[in-house]
Amino acid sequence: MVPKVFSGSSNLPLAQKVSKNLGLKLSPLEITVFADGEKRVRVVDNVVDIETVVVQSTAAPADANYMELFFIIDALKRSGAKSVTVVIPYLGYQRQDHVFRDGEAVSLGVVIKAIESLGASKVITFDLHTVKIPELFRIPVSHLSALPLFAEKIKKMANGSPRVEAGQLSIVNCSLVSPDLGGVRRIKLISEMLGNMPYAIIVKNRNLDSGEITAEKIEGKVFSKAVIVDDMISSGKTMVAAAELLKESGAQEIIAMATHAVLSSGSPEVLQNSIISKVFVTDTIAIPEQKKFPKLEVISVADIIAKEIRKNNS
Ligand code: R5P
Repeated sequence: MVPKVFSGSSNLPLAQKVSKNLGLKLSPLEITVFADGEKRVRVVDNVVDIETVVVQSTAAPADANYMELFFIIDALKRSGAKSVTVVIPYLGYQRQDHVFRDGEAVSLGVVIKAIESLGASKVITFDLHTVKIPELFRIPVSHLSALPLFAEKIKKMANGSPRVEAGQLSIVNCSLVSPDLGGVRRIKLISEMLGNMPYAIIVKNRNLDSGEITAEKIEGKVFSKAVIVDDMISSGKTMVAAAELLKESGAQEIIAMATHAVLSSGSPEVLQNSIISKVFVTDTIAIPEQKKFPKLEVISVADIIAKEIRKNNS
């Protein structure tokens, strides 16, 4: 059955690419913002007995984007949609998936309860912070990854096209690097995709009170070139601390790759002014013009999402 694809307001360019890839036009939604900031959502098309898909990233402003998503799911269900697949390319609150310190809420758990109780049928998302997160849902979750896109990019760079600012990246004399222990699984996966390319792992320490990050040591061999692969870049501190330690350990050319460009305030400057020569991210989060910087290159996940939707609706 051909689904109808809707978009919240957080990542319209990605939703447009996904629907174009599916040979569809985005179905209209009325999203009104009242003077006090409250939103009203209205489904315009007939969706009775129709499979529907909603694309909404829940990056900043996470709360507002989640509320909008909740209203869209509710509006579609009330309008008779047969199913509502929610594509949340970046799942906000994923780093709060358990209690770190006594007294904390499990914020991701709260969000999941809302998505499920509103009647969403399925979630499609990317590169979650931990592989355990899908288990917190009672509805099916397609946990997709941008790693194959990064692996392709590394292969292309190794062939000399495109070149990176500080010279050509070659797979020879190059290692993949996880900037922390949490990324071990990720780095092993991309290493396998690249014919067991060597990898190293950084032991990182984050002070939970101050947010300060220290890259303490590197486990594994450091070559002259390094590609750091992470799930997200927020403040940029993890990438920069990792890059500095790699440089101290002999790396001369350092590239950063991360699926989610959270890019919190000040991070574009931190990354642009760092020793990292190129920063690759995806469009799981829409990047406003003012956050773009010369070293940044965005790779789209639209085709992967479209393929997954096709698979679900064939
Ligand atoms: C942490 O465990 C994550 O995998 C990322 O390394 C982290 O969220 C990046 O954050 P920031 O850019 O603020 O250092």
